[in-house]
Amino acid sequence: MTVNIALNRTIDNSYDVEIAPLSKIHFDTKVIVVTNPKVSGFHLKYLLENISANELYIVTVPDGEEFKNFSTVENILENLFNHRLDRKSLLIAFGGGVIGDMTGFTASIYQRGIDFIQIPTTLLSQVDASVGGKTGINNKYGKNLVGAFYQPKKVLIDSHFLSTLGEREYSAGIAEIVKMAVTFDKDFFEYLENNDLKKTEVIEYAIKRSVEIKADVVARDEKENGIRAALNYGHTFAHVIEKESGYGTFLHGEAVSIGMVMANELSVKLGLMSDNEALKIEKLLDTYNLPINYDVKSVNIFYDAFFLDKKSSNGKISFILAKGIGDVEIKSDIADEDIKSVLTIFRS
Ligand SMILES: NC(=O)c1ccc[n+]([C@@H]2O[C@H](COP(=O)([O-])OP(=O)(O)OC[C@H]3O[C@@H](n4cnc5c(N)ncnc54)[C@H](O)[C@@H]3O)[C@@H](O)[C@H]2O)c1
Repeated sequence: MTVNIALNRTIDNSYDVEIAPLSKIHFDTKVIVVTNPKVSGFHLKYLLENISANELYIVTVPDGEEFKNFSTVENILENLFNHRLDRKSLLIAFGGGVIGDMTGFTASIYQRGIDFIQIPTTLLSQVDASVGGKTGINNKYGKNLVGAFYQPKKVLIDSHFLSTLGEREYSAGIAEIVKMAVTFDKDFFEYLENNDLKKTEVIEYAIKRSVEIKADVVARDEKENGIRAALNYGHTFAHVIEKESGYGTFLHGEAVSIGMVMANELSVKLGLMSDNEALKIEKLLDTYNLPINYDVKSVNIFYDAFFLDKKSSNGKISFILAKGIGDVEIKSDIADEDIKSVLTIFRS
């Protein structure tokens, strides 16, 4: 006997990303804002000038990737229970990608899921992490290995927050902007070459274009069964670099910068990209002091580390390779010798 559970219905999870100065909003429910001391020190006053709710509480968690774990999620959950949030209540993630990933994950599990809104405050989270519904935390087995696809109800992006961001953090966000342009939009890449991302109107346009590109990719492939993986361009190399150099040595965006340069060498080797195109990308990254060199101490150790990444499956690693500038290809049949010969270029 078979009983069919008929769940074949379409649920519309669409939402808006508003890129504009925050405007006054009142939420007719209980709200908890999750943030950290650094972000709240700089910007909580401004947030509270704009946001109100029937009841509003602030939960502050320690700052740093090392706190993106179960124990902080439990701490947030404890606060939700203590303040008696119900299924109509709302969480607001107010911070960078760490706060966004962790708050989104907590929202996905509290009473089987309550609404949340992203108010990203770093450039990286404004152009990438806050959009697309990947939420998660780290554990001893690795980064982002526990999580859920859980979309926010809204994303509010205000470039005002970027004024307090350190220079390295700002550039780390630029690396992700370059990633979007190289993989999906040649005209946008040319715009980046010809405009200064330190200017407000330029960064606002770059945020908007990056969000549009990501939104389009996520709409086509929400759960990363295909094209969404292209957003991991540079990341296969970057994950090894982050791990090998010790987390915290490079910011994630900095490791992605080196990773894109390495991936481009592979593209050049396979005839997918010209030397000139690879140089243009390096030059753009270098303009914002992003690292473009790395010392691969042992080609074999670096190569073996690819297989520990969660993107490898059945002993095959997928490489996301730019095809010229503005197009992308996902390849999982590259010969070991080609990969190793590219790694050799990065030996000092
Ligand atoms: N969900 C996704 O799709 C996705 C995509 C990319 C990255 N991520 C995740 O995002 C995280 C990285 O995000 P991040 O780079 O924003 O790091 P982060 O959240 O750690 O923020 C970096 C630092 O900047 C501080 N900060 C935040 N806003 C600030 C402001 N306005 N002024 C001054 N300082 C500020 C933070 O307190 C922190 O010290 C990683 O955990 C990564 O896994 C997720």
